[in-house]
Amino acid sequence: MELKKKISEAFASHFGGEGTFYSSAGRINLIGEHTDYNGGFVFPGAIDKVIMAEIRPNDTEKVNLYSVDMDASASFGLNEADAPKEQWARYVFGVCREIIKRGGTVKGFDAVFAGNVPLGAGLSSSAALESCFAFALNDLFNGNSIDKFELAKIGQSTEHNYCGVNCGIMDQFASVFGKKDCLIRLDCRSLEYEYFPFKIDGYKLVLVDSVVKHELVDSPYNKRRESCERVAKRLGIETLRDADMAMLDAVKSDISAEDYMRAKFVIGEKDRVLGVCDALNRGDIETVGRLMYETHEGLSKDYEVSCEELDFLNDVAKECGVTGSRIMGGGFGGCTINLVPDAIHDSFIKTVTEKFNERYGHEPKIYDVIISDGARKIEE
Ligand code: GLA
Repeated sequence: MELKKKISEAFASHFGGEGTFYSSAGRINLIGEHTDYNGGFVFPGAIDKVIMAEIRPNDTEKVNLYSVDMDASASFGLNEADAPKEQWARYVFGVCREIIKRGGTVKGFDAVFAGNVPLGAGLSSSAALESCFAFALNDLFNGNSIDKFELAKIGQSTEHNYCGVNCGIMDQFASVFGKKDCLIRLDCRSLEYEYFPFKIDGYKLVLVDSVVKHELVDSPYNKRRESCERVAKRLGIETLRDADMAMLDAVKSDISAEDYMRAKFVIGEKDRVLGVCDALNRGDIETVGRLMYETHEGLSKDYEVSCEELDFLNDVAKECGVTGSRIMGGGFGGCTINLVPDAIHDSFIKTVTEKFNERYGHEPKIYDVIISDGARKIEE
């Protein structure tokens, strides 16, 4: 059933009547992984998979939520002590609290939400949920006075303070700022950004989901960040954005071998994002693809956030002649993103599905990527 219809029926049956609809999107990232919390560059875009919510203020101090996908309800007050125990409701509670902490207004409301962003696939379903509610509560209670960057930061702080993931700004940024047919290069230090129209004639972006569940909470994600921060501290700089390989090599004997590998990846990745943007401007798609493969190699061998299934998907892509392929997002499971020539699109999907099934006893999920708008109110 269409998402909006499903939500509207659930809203009518749980709360009666109707509210206002909002949605925000999941994201892809062409290149620039684990660079956001290192002050580097990322190159994401919002996709046509969203979290949508119907929301109506209820003139109380209480929030009542119903998640259609989980068929579960949760209620909470708006004070710090009212944190709900359900993890999924903490994303919404966190957004409310972060708005209030910044001096904004949130009053009680009833809301129903549902989505089609695959969970745990590295497509940022949690950022879509946070951005959807941040955007909506800004519209409903704050006359849209909170600017878009602050909305993204509200989502990011929700992850830090209520969900245990010390993430960077990329996912929430992409979800809030996403624009149809455009990727966005963000400088995570200055927060300057630029939209790049993204349509490469003759190629498609395809996501291959290993269906290995990716859960950044309790994953070594936070540990990766700590490694980077230790190295930056040793170098006397704020973030690894300001480091180069000569600087890193100069302190090699003072840091652990593991921290060295992590920092080496981040320094290389910073240059690869800029390389991809330049190559795109020149129409040099082969270079874009080569840099994607290099990123995969670095994420797998130096940053160690891959897994057997993702490395297998990457190998199959290479064998099939896919132009570029790599793990996307935080890692530890989830998807690869593949830049696939139209001529081999169908045969690649067939081969990767068969080979993965042969090896792991189940098929991967395949998604074609459509770059779409981010957070918005749904007027129609
Ligand atoms: C997760 C985080 C992001 C970013 C990526 C890796 O998606 O939420 O902030 O660090 O991993 O690039």
